[in-house]
Parts: sequence; C-alpha cells; structure tokens
Amino acid sequence: MKLWGGRFEQAPTEIFERFSGSLSFDRRLLEADIRGSQAWARALERAGILTAIERERIVTSLEEILAEAAERDVFAGADDEDVHTFVIRKLGERAGDLAAKIHTGRSRNEQVSTDVRLWLRARIDETLALLADLMEALVGHGRRYGGAVIPGYTHLRRAQPVLWPHYLLAYFEMFARDAERLLEARRRTNLLPLGSGALAGSGIPIDREAIARELGFEGLTRNSMDAAADRDFLLDFLYAAALTMLHLSRLAEDWILYSSDEFGWLELADSVTSGSSLMPQKKNPDSLELIRGKCGRVFGSLSSLFVTVKGLPMTYNRDLQEDKIPLFEAVDELQASLRMARVVVDSAVLKPDLALRALEQSWAVATDLAEALARAGVAFHHAHQLVGKLVLESLRSGRTPRDWSGEQLASFAPEFTPELAALLEPVAGLRRREILGGTGPNAVAAALGAAQERLARLRR
Ligand code: ARG
Repeated sequence: MKLWGGRFEQAPTEIFERFSGSLSFDRRLLEADIRGSQAWARALERAGILTAIERERIVTSLEEILAEAAERDVFAGADDEDVHTFVIRKLGERAGDLAAKIHTGRSRNEQVSTDVRLWLRARIDETLALLADLMEALVGHGRRYGGAVIPGYTHLRRAQPVLWPHYLLAYFEMFARDAERLLEARRRTNLLPLGSGALAGSGIPIDREAIARELGFEGLTRNSMDAAADRDFLLDFLYAAALTMLHLSRLAEDWILYSSDEFGWLELADSVTSGSSLMPQKKNPDSLELIRGKCGRVFGSLSSLFVTVKGLPMTYNRDLQEDKIPLFEAVDELQASLRMARVVVDSAVLKPDLALRALEQSWAVATDLAEALARAGVAFHHAHQLVGKLVLESLRSGRTPRDWSGEQLASFAPEFTPELAALLEPVAGLRRREILGGTGPNAVAAALGAAQERLARLRR
C-alpha cells in the first residue's frame, strides 16, 4: 500500500518500489509508530477532528496490531512502502474507513522523526544500563584483586608499577564520560517533532504540549523546518556510540596483549575464547578481537550518516531514509559489545604473581628511586642521570633491581643511601603516590568507593 497516488497516471515500477521501500528495516519502529499514532489520535480528538468513539476505535485497533505483532510475523508478505504505511493499512483492516482520518494534519516526515526519537530514547536507556553493568564489573574485578600490582605501560614498555584497580578505574572514567555523552544525546533526542507537518507546521490546531506529555518527551522542537531536516540527535548518539566503542576497543586490545603468551599475567576464561581448527594448543581471544573489529563498523555508521546529511537542501529529502540502517547497526553492535565485554571482564582471572614478576624483571621502579633522591634534596635532573647509570650498569651485568643490596647501592654513588634499597620492591613506590588521582593504595581505595557511588547515581 501507498499513502499517495492521486496525481499519478502511472504506477511505480517494481524496481522503484523495491528500491525505495524501507519496511524491511524500519519495521523495527513498529511500536514507536503505534504509540505515536495513538497520541496523534487523541490530539485529533482534542482538535475536534475525531469523536471520542472514533478515537477509541483507532487507539484500540492500534493496540491490537501491536498485540498481533507480538504473536506472529505480521510483516510476512507485506509490501507496504514503509512502517507508517503498514500501520495505516493494518488499521484499515480493523477500523475500516476510520483509518483514512488518522493521518489528518500529519506528515511522515515528522512521524519518522518522532518514531526514531521514541525508539532511540528506549535504546539509550538500555545502553546506559549495559554500560553501568560493565562499569560495575570493572569495579568488582578491581575489588577482587585490590592489592595486585601490575606494570603500567607507556609506549608499550614497562613504565611504573600501578595497582590493578587503578588501571581498571581508568576505563571506568572513560565509560563514565560515555554515559554523560549518551545522556546528552538523550536530552536532544527527547523532543517532540509532531505538529511540524511536512515542513510548515500542522494546519490542524494540535496541542503539541499534550502529545509531548503523553509520549514522555521533555519538550517540543521549536521550528517546523528544522524538525523535518534535523538528524543532529542521531549524529550525537552515533558519536557517543563510536567513542564508547573506541574505549571498548582499547580495553579489548589491552586484554588481548595482557593475556598473550608474551605478557601472560591475565587469563581469559575458556568460555569467551576459541580454539584453532588446526593448532591444538591455541586459545584465541576472539571475543575481544570482535569487539575491536565491531568498533570500526560503528565508526562507519557515524561517517555514513555524516555523509548522508551533508549538503542536503532544506528540509526533508528521501536521502534521510538512509539514516536508520547505520543507526540500527550501531545500536546493535554497541549493545552486543557491551554485553560481551562485561562477561569477559567478569570471568577473567588476574595472575598477580606473574604481573609482579614482570615488574621485578624490569626497571619500573627507576622513577621511584629518582623521586626519592629528589625528595632527599638531589636535583631531579641529576637524580635521573644517576638512576639511569644504575639501570645501564644493571643491564650490562644482567642484574635486576632485586640484585642490588643497600650497601651495593651506596657504593655505586654517594647520593644513594642503603635505605633506598627498600624502593627496589615494586609495591614500595606505590605508597608515595597517595595523591588525588594517583595509584597510592589509599587513593585507589577511595576512588573505588567513589566509583561505586557514582555508579549508583548513574543507575538512578
Ligand atoms: N520512509 C521514510 C523515511 O524513513 C518516511 C518519510 C517519508 N517521507 C516522504 N516524504 N517520502 O524517511
């Protein structure tokens, strides 16, 4: 079925119909379309276009369509142009001629925007809950291994010892910012376009405020032309989604490395890894690789919509129909990746002894030593040089920090006192980093507590 045709002398070719139809994907908007149409029917009653009886019949019939869709595949064999047309045809099957009235004063341009806004608002809420689940898993893992010390890396070289929960909370911060961005996108999404007409405003005196209240929108779009043309709210969401995926991808990359034979101090659960069809010994981190891989697809969604909207003349153009495919894909991949990441985090096992061994075999304590000298009054540049010489000598003679006794240190350079040897233990230097945002044990314990509170607020 089509919602137009009067001025045409020829029917559309089958090729054009197939080319332009969107029911195959915008069927996902069915519930939103029905909720929006029910609210529109009530608005039409208030405007004196429908009687109470007519409105009731329409609202109930729409409800029945939704119930039917929950029972069976109502789209099988449907050849309607889009979901809006589908709903009106189904309404006609139940409410007869009344269906011809529902579209009074309304355009599909504002309808599709309303539907997508309703749909996306619900998906953002789900995504926020999934994000909070992952953040909780990070905090939980941090608590499980609260005292574990791992090598912190820069340039992928062992840099300084950090507490495992401190590392995990770095991702907590990234995901907390992602949550803020999603909430911001939600705020821009949660505005009602209905009443905008095709582009010029509805010709029926519709109470837009009342529709907004019914559908739970926070406010109204302020300009009918903008309402028809605007897809900024989708781009806001896609950007937030892309950045969330980017953070997931960096986490995935870390854990792929940390669980590799070369690092080896993190163990992924068997249940989230795969074997090789040829090499019997393999245990591959496919779950994490796929998160990393899907990240690229979500970036693709963002650039796809950017390119679609760029340069479109005011106001609605059919190009905009292409917004939904990248949107749906981004939502699906993001939600699936968040679910996957949470399971990977929950089930991974840290090997604190192996992490410590990696630290002990490196000179990750060098900074602690140099800073201790600086605290004792040695100019930092000089301290840096001295410790650098100590490292060089150790590398030459095949020694690790542990191989140095206090006396040996003191005889290496007069600035070194025997007590400095205590700082050759990776955990010792941590205790000097009790600065806000630092990896000192008390600072990290406080950060874990604060994270839990922030999480509770996010859940509300
Ligand atoms: N299927 C269309 C879309 O997704 C709905 C709006 C159609 N409007 C129009 N003027 N053809 O954008």
